[in-house]
Amino acid sequence: MTSEKIKELISQMTLEEKAAMCSGADFWHTEAVKRLEIPASMVSDGPHGLRKQSDEADHLGINDSIKAVCFPAGCGTAASFNRDLITTMGETLGNECQAENLSVILGPAVNIKRSPLCGRNFEYYSEDPLVATEMAGALIKGIQSKNVGTSIKHFLANNQETRRMSSSSEVDERTLREIYLAAFEGAITKQKPWTVMCSYNKINGVYAAENKTYLTDVLRDEWNFDGYVMSDWGAVNSRVADLKAGMDLEMPSSFGINDALIVEALKNGTLEENIVDQAIERILNIVYRFDENRDLNAVFDRDKDHEVARHIAEETIVLMKNDGVLPLNTSDEVAFIGKFAAQPRYQGGGSSHINSHKITSAVDAVKGMNNISYAQGYHLENEEVDAVLMAEAVEAAKKAKVAVIFAGLPDAFESEGYDRSHMRLPECQNVLIEKILTVQPNVIVVLHNGSPVEMPWVSNVRGIVEAYLGGQAVGSAVTDILFGKVNPSAKLPETFPLKLEDNPSFLSYLGEGDKVEYKEGVFVGYRYYDTKKMDVLFPFGHGLSYTTFEYSNLKVSNDQIKDTDTMTVSVDVKNTGSMAGKEVVQVYVADKVSTVIRPVKELREFVKVDLAPGETKTVTFTLGKRAFAYWNVEIHDWHVESGEFDIMIGKSSRDIVLSQTITVTSSVKLPMIYTMDTTIGDIMENPEAAETLLDLTKVFAEVFGGNAAEPSESAISSEMMNAMMKFMPLRGSISFGMGNVTWETLQEFLDKLNKK
Ligand code: BGC
Repeated sequence: MTSEKIKELISQMTLEEKAAMCSGADFWHTEAVKRLEIPASMVSDGPHGLRKQSDEADHLGINDSIKAVCFPAGCGTAASFNRDLITTMGETLGNECQAENLSVILGPAVNIKRSPLCGRNFEYYSEDPLVATEMAGALIKGIQSKNVGTSIKHFLANNQETRRMSSSSEVDERTLREIYLAAFEGAITKQKPWTVMCSYNKINGVYAAENKTYLTDVLRDEWNFDGYVMSDWGAVNSRVADLKAGMDLEMPSSFGINDALIVEALKNGTLEENIVDQAIERILNIVYRFDENRDLNAVFDRDKDHEVARHIAEETIVLMKNDGVLPLNTSDEVAFIGKFAAQPRYQGGGSSHINSHKITSAVDAVKGMNNISYAQGYHLENEEVDAVLMAEAVEAAKKAKVAVIFAGLPDAFESEGYDRSHMRLPECQNVLIEKILTVQPNVIVVLHNGSPVEMPWVSNVRGIVEAYLGGQAVGSAVTDILFGKVNPSAKLPETFPLKLEDNPSFLSYLGEGDKVEYKEGVFVGYRYYDTKKMDVLFPFGHGLSYTTFEYSNLKVSNDQIKDTDTMTVSVDVKNTGSMAGKEVVQVYVADKVSTVIRPVKELREFVKVDLAPGETKTVTFTLGKRAFAYWNVEIHDWHVESGEFDIMIGKSSRDIVLSQTITVTSSVKLPMIYTMDTTIGDIMENPEAAETLLDLTKVFAEVFGGNAAEPSESAISSEMMNAMMKFMPLRGSISFGMGNVTWETLQEFLDKLNKK
């Protein structure tokens, strides 16, 4: 439908019809206008499967939805670091949406994992905005290739569940740009999601739904977003203000209550009709984009998609620790211990909850292998140790050659709607692991959780497998990794700290009442742990393989560039082991000297390569201005400071294998207004200004008995004098100028300087 035709339809609507179009018809549909033959369209959760509800609707995953396929959740898909794989997942989901007549799937959920405690971390991707935005972008690309929309969410700075509908995320401009907006930015600018979902919370005191700065100035004017913005379910507080800010569609329906406010505002002139028309145009563009590109032949083949989910899960499982115990021999006597072996935790609770058409547990996956025993070990309902279950588990472990303990967070520990209060596993599971270790030296722990947990037994077990929440086929994927049918290739998209208190947001997470200050600033995740050189349990980007990789031949296209240039970085990666495998090559950049406080390194690129034994591939990355820039709050733009930068290739943020220094020259001169408060040191930084200042420094020299420009041997202490001078504001020359400097001289000097 052309834009003219849509405009024409809008012009035929009554005010009441227009107002109604700006909110849902019910829980999941947009409004239809029968008279004008405008169809309704259905949206549905998301993000890692379809939660299509027909009868009793809710936004908390309470009532049933159709039988569907549960893919790995965001925590796991991010760990794959494999864009193409996640695009395949998106294509599969897009096809399912076509088969089910769903115009938009509500995801991906891209919010930064600020603290391990966030109840919704399992849906989110990473503590790093590049990983988050790239993986979200890959999913969007796949889904939208099937002419189905996505709704990247929850925009913006929605990093906790506690008081999520009223809290205000107080975040400074630079941190928003470098971390929280950046998680959305690449996905939105590169993959153009059809819709964006605004979050419940406020950002710096203004509700996301009525925040014009982000919904219009950034999203539309800077990032060229051209779809519609919908509210999270119930995120509208002030319908007319929201519309003016750029929030197009209220979801779900307000039963006409907010529509009446829109009509009233239109009638009394407090809301311009063209704002409403614009919102409707954006909504109808998407409604028709879907409607006119229906794939009526699409079939939702659940069994086939289960296999896709299994294949994806294989790359979302991180081998965290392996002292050689893995992979297991298929003939080994193995005890699978722990309820999660038979009943895996493969998804999280809340609006993303899928009614899975089948679930494969690890126990299911090894049916037919009679060398594998199973013991439940613990209950999921409470933390207490069950002596009978414990005794059975100990017996099973004693008889076997290896014990694989399936542990992790039960549903009640981690869910939409609330946050965790600690980072521990249930007590009964930690006790079980310790107890098994007393009878069996070969212990492997498989974890199911959406976010880091503490591991008091980390040094005593021989292997640790982080299976995250791997979707309904997770059991097959885990066992294929345990027995070496699949070579693990996932990496941690987040740091596992030793303890909760180490996390940079620990002191301010959840805030005071509704005020949540992001006091750690840009120092989120490894940006903090690495800058502080802290010991961690497992670093960002870490993940082992059954083969080995060697890196060599790091080359840069140019070691002297301007900030307007792009450069390429290439490196050879060789599979030096005997098993085919995939490696995630990570590129970090560090500004060696900076006048702003910056993390010691930041991930700027990554790619996953597939290598046969003995094979070498050269991988090439392109780095542009953003790889070297920080957000400058004076010019409100990305800025690169001239100087040296290290380009580092890492196997993780803590395992840098190759490094090369380059020089970048800035093309932007930051505006500098010189005042009486400007220090002599800052003036001296500018060569032209320094020259003009020479006369003044002579005056100071007399006072301090030296010459600032050329400190003499006889000076009281040239270091001290230089420091005194450096940090002296210009106005100080009145007090220390022995009457030789006047306010007039200084003002003349400033006028001259500010003209240059
Ligand atoms: C969640 C969204 C979800 C919506 C619809 C809200 O509670 O925050 O992520 O898409 O419900 O179920």
